[in-house]
Amino acid sequence: MSRLRIAIDGPSGAGKSTLGRALAQRLGLPYVDTGAMYRAVGWAVAEAGLDDAEQIVAYVQGLELDVDPDPAGFHVRVDGVDVTDRLRHPDIGRMAAKVAAIEGVRDWMVPRQQAVARAGGVLEGRDIGTVVLPDADCKFYLTSDELTRMARRAEQLGLEEMGAEVVGDVLERDRVDSRRKHSPLRPAADALHIDTSAQTVDESLAVMLEEIARRG
Ligand code: DC
Repeated sequence: MSRLRIAIDGPSGAGKSTLGRALAQRLGLPYVDTGAMYRAVGWAVAEAGLDDAEQIVAYVQGLELDVDPDPAGFHVRVDGVDVTDRLRHPDIGRMAAKVAAIEGVRDWMVPRQQAVARAGGVLEGRDIGTVVLPDADCKFYLTSDELTRMARRAEQLGLEEMGAEVVGDVLERDRVDSRRKHSPLRPAADALHIDTSAQTVDESLAVMLEEIARRG
């Protein structure tokens, strides 16, 4: 069981992190938030003040990225500095979408994510079932309606109300993620689609556990 590899993909606010963590905890597997890895790189690129894609790729290739794949407390370190608490700001989200669209950054990132998954794990992101773990034991593609996704994202950011800026920001980022040339957000052909809009966490989790059991 400990070598099971599970892929969870979908747009922002579809429930990937909550369900990914819960699933990993339930199955005793490592949990990897690959979005946080792109955010960490986005943060480092912003700190370095870089904008040009070629310069960004060269800079990123010199970074050391470490993760602590613990479902009870996932952490990311860049060059030994734990940046986990600095990654949720919308500016970092924009930077993450920008660096994630660069082919050279993805070419550098994907093997690192595959290495973390070697011992098994629940990986969540946008290209896990299609690119990072095309041979995952089980793949899920989570969706939910726009309003639900925005409300969840706002809650995650600790906002009382959803500001127009946050709504526009998340929708724009999903557009960038879906339309980019390299590894766009797309369901794998063999992924189980789950619309989490009207489901509780436990209900979605039950569907996922059932599918994992069914796929053996
Ligand atoms: O899931 P998130 O919002 O933390 O992701 C941050 C950004 O990284 C988002 O624009 C999508 C991108 N991303 C990606 O391109 N591939 C992944 N596997 C995970 C995230």
